[in-house]
Amino acid sequence: MSNRVRKAVFPAGGLGTRFLPATKVIPKEMLALVDKPIIQYGVEEAIASGIEHIIFVTGRGKGAMEDHFDISYELDATLERKGKKELLALSRSISSLARISYVRQKEPLGLGHAVLCAKELVGDEPFAVILPDDVIEAEPPCLKQMIDVFDERGGSVLATQTVEGPGISAYGVLAGSQDAHNVRIYNCTGMVEKPKFEDAPSKQAIIGRYVLTPRVFELLEKTTPGAGGEIQLTDGIMALLKEEKVFGYTFKGRRFDAGDKFGMLQATVEFALKRPEFADKFREYLKGLAL
Ligand code: UTP
Repeated sequence: MSNRVRKAVFPAGGLGTRFLPATKVIPKEMLALVDKPIIQYGVEEAIASGIEHIIFVTGRGKGAMEDHFDISYELDATLERKGKKELLALSRSISSLARISYVRQKEPLGLGHAVLCAKELVGDEPFAVILPDDVIEAEPPCLKQMIDVFDERGGSVLATQTVEGPGISAYGVLAGSQDAHNVRIYNCTGMVEKPKFEDAPSKQAIIGRYVLTPRVFELLEKTTPGAGGEIQLTDGIMALLKEEKVFGYTFKGRRFDAGDKFGMLQATVEFALKRPEFADKFREYLKGLAL
């Protein structure tokens, strides 16, 4: 068994109902943030974190994702004929980003179920889970920071962010205590899914990055469907907690929830303002709006 985190699972079998009607036909993961599908940000983060093999858990209607990371002969041939060298290099670079495998989740039976679909492809080794909706700007990349914690501590690591106030009710929230040696690490003893503000055990909200040991697969197999008939990843991790150490990690960086309309708008404005080719023009445009 390898103890290195080499593989990353991208659950992308969900229906994306928060982004309807855009997601009726187009997979949520393929919505563009400025000019790049949101899933590509996650793939680039994984590669920059040392991941060698990417596993997409897809579902019905997600074909565009497979095509995006594949070679597009017609497009490449046309760009070549027209002498558009830079665009050709861009198109080709996407298809050679990483080794990618696909597994299909026949029905969207929950995030835990989606992760379980990747069991055979992951095998008996620790692995990462990246929720593509969460676009994270961080240096070093968020997943790299987490893998460093995993390598040092040897237990599963859940990325968290500190959420003040009632907004915490939208998340899974950690219970436990801050580590004595590293203020970013939280020694986890439990977790509560979407608690009322008054009942939240901490301010540590779980977001879409995980490094997990393979034991979680066996525990997910035993997990019975919870709310809405779905198999929740948090239920599998709660079972894991009874057997192994699990850490929360407050990553250094910023997260945008690009699976939500407002989050996508925020990310669009901020990412656009960082693009050298039109940042100045866009800033002037924003300043000119009668807000
Ligand atoms: P979300 O709940 O954010 O995604 O799940 P969703 O269900 O697609 O979207 P909404 O809430 O209806 O708008 C987080 C991630 O887990 C995947 C989703 O594709 C998303 O990337 N997921 C969720 C699955 O792969 N399978 C599922 O059964 C559920």
